[in-house]
Amino acid sequence: MSELIAVIPGDGIGPEVMDQTTRVLTHVRPDLRFETYQLGAEHWQKTGEVLSDETLARLAEADAILLGAVGAAPGSKAIPSGLIERGLLLKLRFHFDHAVNLRPSKLYPGLPTPLAESVVADKLIDFVVVREGTEGLYAGNGGRFRPDTPQEVATEVSINTAHGVERVVRYAFDLARDRRGQLTLVHKHNVLVNAGTLWRRVVAEIGEQYPDVTTDYLHVDAATIMLVTNPDRFDVIVTDNLFGDILTDEAAAITGGIGLAASANLNLSGTYPSMFEPVHGSAPDIADQGIADPRAAILSGAMLLDHLGHRADGDHIRRAVETDIVQTIGVRRGTSAVGDAILAALG
Ligand code: IPM
Ligand code: MN
Repeated sequence: MSELIAVIPGDGIGPEVMDQTTRVLTHVRPDLRFETYQLGAEHWQKTGEVLSDETLARLAEADAILLGAVGAAPGSKAIPSGLIERGLLLKLRFHFDHAVNLRPSKLYPGLPTPLAESVVADKLIDFVVVREGTEGLYAGNGGRFRPDTPQEVATEVSINTAHGVERVVRYAFDLARDRRGQLTLVHKHNVLVNAGTLWRRVVAEIGEQYPDVTTDYLHVDAATIMLVTNPDRFDVIVTDNLFGDILTDEAAAITGGIGLAASANLNLSGTYPSMFEPVHGSAPDIADQGIADPRAAILSGAMLLDHLGHRADGDHIRRAVETDIVQTIGVRRGTSAVGDAILAALG
C-alpha cells in the first residue's frame, strides 16, 4: 500500500506553502496519498474544536504528517494564549512522542545574512540543532495559585527524564558521526544544576561509545554569541526543548531567515507518525497574496521523505531547492512560481 501523508495546512500562509509542497512530493513520488485535515486557529474560531480524540486517532494511522502553520489572523476572534499551541501543535508532538525536533541550518553562498562579512568569508556554516521535543519547560508541569491576586504564585517546572535525554543525545551522536563528528551540548548547568547534571552525565556516558565524535559544551548564553561570531564552529548541537526553540530562531535568522528553515519532529520508535513543518509561522500579514516562500515547507517535505526511507528522493528535492536558492538571490517571485521553478529543476 502506498504511503499516506496527513496534511494539516493550518492558517495564514500554511495552505499556500502546503500546496507547493504536496505538488513537489507528488512529482518525485506519484504513489504518495494525501489526506487533508482542517485544523488550526480558524478551525477553532469556526467550530470551537482544537483537536478531538477522534481526529488524533485518525492522524495516528498516517505514515507521516505535514503541517503548514497555525496562528490567528489579527482582528479575528481572539484566541486564549496557548490554546492552539498547547492544544494542537504540542499535543501532536507529545501524543505522537516526537522525541527529536530536528532543525538544520545552512548558509548558502551569496545569501543575505546579518552576519559580518569576516564571519562568513570562506566559512562552512552548516549545522543541525537537535532539540529535545517532549519535555523540559514545555511539559506543562505547573500551575497558578491564587490567580489574579497580589499573592499569585505561578510555576513552570522543567521535566528532564533520563529516558528522554538519552534518546535525543544518542540521536545527536549518530547524526554527528554521519556528519563532521562534532557535538556541542548547550545548557546552563551552572544555574540549572539538576537538569544540567543529568544532561552532562548522559552526554559523557553515551559519548564513550562514540570515540569518533568530539564533544564540547557551551552555556546557552555563550552559544547565542557564538552563533553570531563563530557559527562555523558548530556541526551538531544537542539541547533541551526551550533552549532549542530559542537557538533555532537565531540559527534561522543568520542563515537566510525563517523563510528557509525546515524542521522534523521525529518519533524514533515508529509507534506514531513523525511530523514535518516549516519553522515559520502563519504570517497572516502576507497570507492569500500568493507571495509566501514555500521553500521551508518543501525542504520539510524532503525531510519527510528521508524519514520514510526515500533518502535519494529527499536529496533530489534538497538539491533542487538549493540550486533555486543560490540562483534566485534578490529575485522576487510568487509562491507558485517558486514551486514551478523547483519542479522544473527536479526534471
Ligand atoms: C516552534 C514554535 C512552537 C514552539 C510554538 C508555536 C509552540 O515556536 O515550532 O519553534 O515553541 O515549539
Ligand atoms: Mn519557535
